Amino acid sequence: MTVIAVINQKGGCGKSTTSVHLAYWLSKKGKTTFVVDADAQQSSSVWLNSMESQIPFEVVQSPDNLLEKLPELDQDYEYLIVDGPASLSEVTRAVLFRSDLALVPCQPTGLDLRSASDSVRLIKQAQSVRNGPPKAAIFLSRAVKGTKLKDEAISLLTKIPETKLLSTVIHQKQVIADTSGQLTTVWNTPGRSATESAREFDKLFQEVFNLLT
Ligand SMILES: Nc1ncnc2c1ncn2[C@@H]1O[C@H](COP(=O)(O)OP(=O)(O)O)[C@@H](O)[C@H]1O
Ligand SMILES: [Mg+2]
Repeated sequence: MTVIAVINQKGGCGKSTTSVHLAYWLSKKGKTTFVVDADAQQSSSVWLNSMESQIPFEVVQSPDNLLEKLPELDQDYEYLIVDGPASLSEVTRAVLFRSDLALVPCQPTGLDLRSASDSVRLIKQAQSVRNGPPKAAIFLSRAVKGTKLKDEAISLLTKIPETKLLSTVIHQKQVIADTSGQLTTVWNTPGRSATESAREFDKLFQEVFNLLT
């Protein structure tokens, strides 16, 4: 089982949106996928609970429960997505001890870049203890097209060692915001804007997938 942890202590950067969309994308590809919702807000479990695709999930919020739950799922699923909490807590550390890839969504603002570097710090600690894993990838989330901030963020994030900046950027789009309210995904939303966002997610997740194979 490949474990992908979506982490960043900054609330609102897109962890739950990414987790649900990635889980959906993997199951569309025919991969058996499970989602662990490790966030107190439980956004992804509420979302998945209402989706027709019936992706299995469980809310697991203590580090001990997480460390015990993950090996239990190992035989039954090809992919496990952990939707991380809005803090760099013991839960995040526990997740990083079991992950193959830490995926960090980052909004292109100064504060968010700082919180991403805190996440990278935890990832590096885990890599050092585990002598290698998890792999780490950052991507720009909720970026506004054509802004200077976006370009500045790209040049800063490219410089972080041992962490790959993915080339796909997920742009800020109302249609993505609407998916959580409507408990669906961009692939199941009609219209050109949804198609554009679906293409971005397809490209992002293909990059993620390629990192793991
Ligand atoms: N690319 C995007 N464009 C517009 N809104 C987004 C985008 N990504 C996430 N959102 C919205 O931003 C809010 C926070 O996203 P969420 O995935 O819940 O973040 P987190 O889990 O990191 O707190 C939600 O209302 C979500 O619908
Ligand atoms: Mg969330």
